[in-house]
Amino acid sequence: MDKIIINGPCKLSGSVTISKAKNAYLPILAGVLLSNKKITLNEVPNLRDINTMLKLLGNLGVGVKRDGKTIELEPALLNSHEATYDLVKTMRASIFTLGPILTRLHKAKVSLPGGCAIGTRPIDLHLSNLEKMGAKITLEGGYVYAETDGPLQGAHLVLAFPSVGATENLMMAASLAEGQTVIENAALEPEIDDLANFLNAMGGKVSGIGTNRLVIDGVKEFKEVEYTAIGDRIEAATYIMAALATKSSVRVDGFNPKHLDFVINLLKNMGANIEVGADFVQVEPSTLSLAKVDTAPFPGFPTDVQAQMMALVTQVEGSSIITEHIFENRFMHVPELIRLGAKIELKGNTAVIEGGLKLIGAPVMCTDLRASAALIIAALTSHGETEISRVYHLDRGYENLDQKFKKLGANIQRVSEES
Ligand code: EPZ
Repeated sequence: MDKIIINGPCKLSGSVTISKAKNAYLPILAGVLLSNKKITLNEVPNLRDINTMLKLLGNLGVGVKRDGKTIELEPALLNSHEATYDLVKTMRASIFTLGPILTRLHKAKVSLPGGCAIGTRPIDLHLSNLEKMGAKITLEGGYVYAETDGPLQGAHLVLAFPSVGATENLMMAASLAEGQTVIENAALEPEIDDLANFLNAMGGKVSGIGTNRLVIDGVKEFKEVEYTAIGDRIEAATYIMAALATKSSVRVDGFNPKHLDFVINLLKNMGANIEVGADFVQVEPSTLSLAKVDTAPFPGFPTDVQAQMMALVTQVEGSSIITEHIFENRFMHVPELIRLGAKIELKGNTAVIEGGLKLIGAPVMCTDLRASAALIIAALTSHGETEISRVYHLDRGYENLDQKFKKLGANIQRVSEES
């Protein structure tokens, strides 16, 4: 297992280009299963989760040809309806294949994803709404068995919670269903829009994009398509917060700042000096005032930026408050930040951070993807050497992170850990 060593405090400068979004390409890759025509995806980031999804598609029989960051897929070769536990357990986004396999083959056997570090991550909204579309669903031996007599039927679905995954699974299932499906209280994340745009690009009929009421008319088949996903707003937020935490001047480009409206406005209200362009932001050294953050579904403060924000406010004078409303266990970064000298008190799903303290380098451990990003930000501001272990968590969602930060001037090395 590799580790990352950072000697801080670091000053950053220059520019960093954001990769295309993991959370857009993962559902899009599942959506490939809907079609029997060639699909070409461009600028696909080299991430562990993406590679796991490509392996899963390969196991289902889909032809996968990779040329650098261009991937050609041949879903006509689909020859299995079963997504097995060995792969699904390593990446819960595999559950996105349930809707496409079921609507294409009228039967599916997909392993239950199991929980993960940040929470139990149930899929009840996915399953109950697929049943409303005519699926017969049973759970047995850790697997979801789903089947229909003939095509899924369009239905009027109302999500009890604007779940990103449920919205995506159901939108894809509806794309080959008979008739029209309406999804009320649909999630509004930009990655949902991107999936809808991808489906429409290959001949799907999704309307209401960008609203919480999606209308999907089932089609009979799709056409060949070439597609490029949106920039990764969560990766962008990570570099923006690293720049602010180290009081650096950094340009972050290759993403749509509108996808980070809430975060950028909050940071500006805290005193951050951020110039916003069409596909970049320019961050300048800033003195920030304390923050009060509540995570929420889009367009609110993204839960995927909560840990990174916490690392940032350890450098801000005063007591900041961060409350996590989306996942039940998304404070795994707290004990690790405390090892660096941060003063953080947890009261249920609320963290109170006493900021403005000097952090001192120490060995710390990654526990989940975004917690790992928080440790990187904190290590960049810490005095002395920080050794971050289990960086495979980072590799799930950050492409070439150590190289990108090295290019920005950070004193950062990635080394392979003995044993
Ligand atoms: C997606 O996960 C993202 N993953 C997550 O990003 C992100 O944190 C999350 O959306 C929220 O924005 C991908 O897109 C691959 P949800 P997902 O369904 O679809 C509850 C990262 O760091 N819920 O919106 O699993 C659930 O327990 C990852 O990149 C149900 O109760 O998120 C959670 O409390 C982490 N029943 C809340 O909804 C369901 O059937 C949000 O879950 C589904 C969800």
